Amino acid sequence: MTAKKPRVLVVDDDSEMAEMIADHLGASGYVAECAAGGNAALAALRRRSFDAVITDLRMDEVDGFDVLRASLEDDPARPVLIMTAYGTIDSAIDALRRGAAHYLTKPFKLGEACLFLERSLADRGLRTENEQLRRLVDERFGFQGLIGKSASMQQLYDLLSRVAAASAPVLLLGESGTGKELVARAIHFGGPRAKAPFVAVNCAALPEQLLESELFGHARGAFTGATEAKKGLFVEANEGTLLLDEIGELPLPLQAKLLRALESSAIRPVGGAAERSVDVRIVAATNRDLAAAVQEKRFREDLYYRLHVIPIHLPPLRDRREDIPLLVEHFVRRYAERHRGAPPRQIGADVMKWLIDQPWPGNVRELENTVERLLLLARGTNADLRDLSPVAAEPAPEALPPLGGEIVPLRVMQRRYVEWVLSQTGGNKVRAAQLLGIDASTIYRMLARGE
Ligand SMILES: Nc1ncnc2c1ncn2[C@@H]1O[C@H](COP(=O)(O)OP(=O)(O)OP(=O)(O)O)[C@@H](O)[C@H]1O
Ligand SMILES: [Mg+2]
Repeated sequence: MTAKKPRVLVVDDDSEMAEMIADHLGASGYVAECAAGGNAALAALRRRSFDAVITDLRMDEVDGFDVLRASLEDDPARPVLIMTAYGTIDSAIDALRRGAAHYLTKPFKLGEACLFLERSLADRGLRTENEQLRRLVDERFGFQGLIGKSASMQQLYDLLSRVAAASAPVLLLGESGTGKELVARAIHFGGPRAKAPFVAVNCAALPEQLLESELFGHARGAFTGATEAKKGLFVEANEGTLLLDEIGELPLPLQAKLLRALESSAIRPVGGAAERSVDVRIVAATNRDLAAAVQEKRFREDLYYRLHVIPIHLPPLRDRREDIPLLVEHFVRRYAERHRGAPPRQIGADVMKWLIDQPWPGNVRELENTVERLLLLARGTNADLRDLSPVAAEPAPEALPPLGGEIVPLRVMQRRYVEWVLSQTGGNKVRAAQLLGIDASTIYRMLARGE
């Protein structure tokens, strides 16, 4: 801790509670002052400056929301931690939306409060730095590898630079190819966790039991074949970020286990006796309607709310066509870097116009693939739309052999059929699995093994 002890205001109309917390903070390197209720808190905030505030939410007359508002008005960077009784989680989440740094559900361990306080104060330092940087550049054309200058992307950068500094879970929502993985990386590498690992896992790609030991690890001998203990991705991502891609596909039992991990910041390996505490920021991503999955009881509501604290919607490309020229230029430049020495290739104005007008159901990924293909197939310097004939564009999956014709092994037929279904879903494996009535993990496995 720095030479100067951070000064914390502890607010609770239960003055015994406030004093207990203040005592503990005092013993942990803080200077703590108590306020017995909202009015006293407002007076204290006017009287002197604090580095952080911990406040109860439900108080008579002046409540925690008022304290939060007053503190933010006075100093928007000062972290405010909210204490709340179980059962008022909704208002705690509301408080987070209004700018609270964290919430603690009563009863909580005093050590936990200290930990959150320490982290929030560290975040505060970073946020001030970020804001200074932000003021230097008014309009940005990119953020951590993300390209785009549309209003919706500008809003996204602004949100990301604030979110990156914090540790709360993030939920990324957006169609396939809108850049969810890229955004997850931007959050990790744009924040204080950048030096620790970024780990990504696709929840649809593995069957339940494998996924469980992949995520949480397993003890030696936990099941047949577990000859060695395995750390698991939570431990690998410790102090860093874990991207749970396709979170909508997480099997229900693992949803329960993930919720426990989020609530206690601890995990228990499969077959292991002891819990292990981990400090991992969760970024969950999905291209499906999670709220609908909650309605259909396929996704736990409590987990949904836990992840939904900071939802980030990634706009489809068709809603921000003004970004297309920038993206195309970016992909052209990258192509040139990869093919150094080869004659330069360009996208002419007519092709650009065509690119801007397309519907892009596969979003940036589809645009990226199309530009690559145009450049690769260009005969001269200029890319030509005629090169995008349907055959060249997407090699058709091998036709299905007619029934009653040539006899092929079942696995070959199966593979061809799956490929054909994938071509119908635009490569969306989760959707293809739904149509086929099988687990998405089966498709991933089949493709990985080249069956
Ligand atoms: N704003 C952007 N700027 C530059 N490249 C982008 C942008 N958005 C997406 N891309 C590129 O598009 C491709 C798809 O992005 P990404 O894998 O992040 O999408 P996704 O939303 O995770 O898709 P899916 O739901 O299919 O997993 C990547 O190659 C990524 O680099
Ligand atoms: Mg993805």
